[in-house]
Amino acid sequence: MSESGLGGDQEMVRFDLNGSPVEIRVFIDEPLSQVLRRLGESTVRESCAVGLCGCCTALVDGKSVSTCLYWAAMADGTRIETLSGLTSDERVTALQGSIAKHGAAQCGYCTPGMVMTALELFDAGEQSTKEIEAHMNGNLCRCACYPEMRCAIKDALATANKSLET
Ligand code: FES
Ligand code: FES
Repeated sequence: MSESGLGGDQEMVRFDLNGSPVEIRVFIDEPLSQVLRRLGESTVRESCAVGLCGCCTALVDGKSVSTCLYWAAMADGTRIETLSGLTSDERVTALQGSIAKHGAAQCGYCTPGMVMTALELFDAGEQSTKEIEAHMNGNLCRCACYPEMRCAIKDALATANKSLET
């Protein structure tokens, strides 16, 4: 058993992380969240480690994933995006501006996961508050900024759709 509590066999995995190729040895029972943290991805946060809070959300092949529940060994050949790789993405800029405007981040611990999950909504056009709530229900916030976050996402989606019309 290793110091991290992981043990057993290891294998080499290769994936694309924020546009750069990565090759790393992982334990076969090592969650992707821990591997991403080992790679310095501090916006991937582990809180519950059992798939309940969404703090560890990243995009794997474009889909939001709770990386604490995703074996790193399964990531071989995938394309992974974290918030730190999307700082110049205009959807992220719009969300961050809107989160600041609505005061939707208190301690900010959950915010990267919230942003990663919310990104999927941009492909679906404008959403009602209920639809946003349903999409975001796997992301928990200990500071209880839920109403503010829903308003922030709704506003960012509305702004993005307006800019598509013009
Ligand atoms: S740390 Fe992964 S869902 Fe909570
Ligand atoms: S802002 Fe503190 S956990 Fe969400």
